[in-house]
Amino acid sequence: KPIVLSGCQPSGQLSIGNYIGALRQWVNMQDSHDCRFMLVDLHAITVRQDPEKLRQATLDGLALYLACGLDPERSVVFVQSHVPEHAQLAWVLNCYTQMGELSRMTQFKDKSDRHSNNVNAGLFTYPTLMAADILMYQANQVPVGNDQKQHLELARDVATRFNNIYGDVFTIPDPFIPEVGARVMSLQDPLKKMSKSDDNPNNFIGLLEDPKKVSKKLKRAVTDSDEQARIFFDVEEKPGVSNLLSILSAATGRTIADLVPEYEDKMYGHLKTDTADAVVAMLEPIQQRYQDYRSDMAFLNQVMAKGAEAASAHAAQTLQQVYDVVGFVPRP
Ligand code: AQP
Repeated sequence: KPIVLSGCQPSGQLSIGNYIGALRQWVNMQDSHDCRFMLVDLHAITVRQDPEKLRQATLDGLALYLACGLDPERSVVFVQSHVPEHAQLAWVLNCYTQMGELSRMTQFKDKSDRHSNNVNAGLFTYPTLMAADILMYQANQVPVGNDQKQHLELARDVATRFNNIYGDVFTIPDPFIPEVGARVMSLQDPLKKMSKSDDNPNNFIGLLEDPKKVSKKLKRAVTDSDEQARIFFDVEEKPGVSNLLSILSAATGRTIADLVPEYEDKMYGHLKTDTADAVVAMLEPIQQRYQDYRSDMAFLNQVMAKGAEAASAHAAQTLQQVYDVVGFVPRP
């Protein structure tokens, strides 16, 4: 089976962007692929986090993974900081990654603008830690939203460079990007992507939000103020409407081509109401299951322990090989 690896940052409450762009795909890959899914807390601290909130968000994220359908019997589900090999391999890969390559990363540019008082070295080398996450498990496929495509290309470049020097140490991973919902946009500013850590909570929908609030946010989403109040799919001309159509498509499982004719003669309000209803219906079973998992700390501990052990066993093999080829003396 092809090996899959992916993860979300517990940098806030997971959003419908994370679900539609990533998690939803993960759930469907569990039978056909050999899957590993993590909560990347090491990545989360590239931006300042409140320690208690980070701890809670990690446990909330884990319970949400399970509630969305990740199955610890079929997939390895773990917390990144429980597997120290991630940080160890990231260090090595830092030494095979050029400053120029990292400077070109758009996420670094965006985040260093947003967090200009804390442009730390970890934010800059975020992509090499991500490369370590992926290459550690010899992953063939990495299901991600569109925003992570550039980081994945960097991981491929670094792996290829390393292999050219030392032989075939790493598998070169391919991105797996969904056709619909690869880039869920902000509700109030549909030209930028929806982010769980957005300062304006009206821009995103958390997976655990109260249905009334979800509905209200979607009904207040910005639509396009061009001359024609028509509904059609065109991300450049109609970013707000197209975003709602994408969300509706992801939430109902219907294609955009199938949905558009239904709205051709309708007002924006119809689309908003239907999208709100569909998202509430999508979240309802997830929220119900979440409560059960989140209140069972013994079970969450069991999942984390089992996941860390399985992940570490695999990670240690790759790290050993890397340490060997670069010329480190084995620990006696
Ligand atoms: N808006 C989005 N549309 C589609 N996919 C998305 N993803 C994130 N936002 C969207 C995908 O979710 C996975 C996990 O992302 P992450 O939590 O590691 O970090 P991120 O991409 O930086 O997500 P956020 O929500 O924007 O986090 P913050 O606000 O902390 O930076 C990835 O596969 C990502 O593509």
